[in-house]
Amino acid sequence: MVNPFRRHTGMPPQKFVGRKRELEELERNYQQTHNGSPEHTILYGQYGIGKTSLLIETEKKLKEANTIRISLFPTEDITEICDTILREAQAQLNLKPKTLREGLEALDFTFLGTGAKITLAPVKMNPQSALKAVLSEIYNEVKKGKKEKNGVLVLLFDDLHEITGASGGRILSILSNVMTTLNQQGKNIMFVATGAHDIFQRIRSIHESTVRIFHPLEILPFTKEETAEAVNGAAQSEGKTFEKTVINRIHSISSGIPYYIQLLAYYSFQLAEAENKNKISPSLFNRGFQMALDDLARRKFRDLYETCTSEERVILQIFTETMKKEIPFTQIDKKTKINPSAYLKRLTENNILIKTRRGVYSLQDQMFKEYLQTYKPYQRNGTKKI
Ligand SMILES: Nc1ncnc2c1ncn2[C@@H]1O[C@H](COP(=O)(O)OP(=O)(O)OP(=O)(O)O)[C@@H](O)[C@H]1O
Ligand SMILES: [Mg+2]
Repeated sequence: MVNPFRRHTGMPPQKFVGRKRELEELERNYQQTHNGSPEHTILYGQYGIGKTSLLIETEKKLKEANTIRISLFPTEDITEICDTILREAQAQLNLKPKTLREGLEALDFTFLGTGAKITLAPVKMNPQSALKAVLSEIYNEVKKGKKEKNGVLVLLFDDLHEITGASGGRILSILSNVMTTLNQQGKNIMFVATGAHDIFQRIRSIHESTVRIFHPLEILPFTKEETAEAVNGAAQSEGKTFEKTVINRIHSISSGIPYYIQLLAYYSFQLAEAENKNKISPSLFNRGFQMALDDLARRKFRDLYETCTSEERVILQIFTETMKKEIPFTQIDKKTKINPSAYLKRLTENNILIKTRRGVYSLQDQMFKEYLQTYKPYQRNGTKKI
């Protein structure tokens, strides 16, 4: 029997749950674009919240549209992105290299190779004109095609934060200038990107005006009902059921983050399968939970802990040894012999803690708390006594 759950991010689920509000909004934006006033959106949210899966679902839902989906990668050079768009346009929209080539050659482009797929040679024109020409040419081809009369071109870019590094400001300014110019010329191109939870902050710090062309759409954790649907919807199609108390535990441990939900369900399902059980009980889940924590420890949490200084580890210990989710600064200050301000600031900057209210802190990831409680790494290494 196949395990219907996923251990990794980046793989769409067997059963896609929720996201109705987001998909409806994207559908509306598409109609708007169709009617000549393009809308651009950034879907953002924390690690494992379901950004890539939502982008893939959007692509499926807009099946009438002409979509190009690309995964962004760190680069200093926008012509690399240009080239990826050109390559994916040929592959995903079935555009003919010959006609694309003719169109682009008329614009003074040169190409590498003569095969079935064209790729740009190092471009002589400036990168902004290059991106503009490539998108215009793809758009013109799409418009000629029969798939969709008004010729909307939808660009789906996964992980926009990948290009918010050192030269990100330049890349973003080119991207937003080109989008705006093409839209003003009546080309109905709609842009949907995904980004990390702090994407707007990052964009603002490197290229302020780009923020204004994108509509922000935050992807939220699952409700309890959505968690139940994601777990039992998939499990039941394979003849297994998670008991209600287990669903509640999965929901509270995962904080509704789809990646954690999938991971927890994956290992419990695997155990149930190995032991020939059709019901996933709390005791079976507890064993699956340890396997999920081991997986996360190896993949992420051990490194995260290792990056902390011994002072920061003292603070993490305080968070681990309390039942409370939130701790006020005064209490942390009282429990440590050091002034914790600078360390709290760094832990917050590194997304390990969040400031829930003024002077009140909480661990960003409750699963990390489970890891700390189970493994108690501070008992082993480098932590000063408090
Ligand atoms: N709507 C959904 N319904 C059910 N499962 C989902 C849904 N969205 C995402 N998942 C599952 O959650 C996990 C994480 O999803 P995804 O990779 O889309 O997240 P992400 O935000 O792109 O992650 P990353 O931060 O690594 O880029 C995957 O296993 C995916 O199958
Ligand atoms: Mg992703």
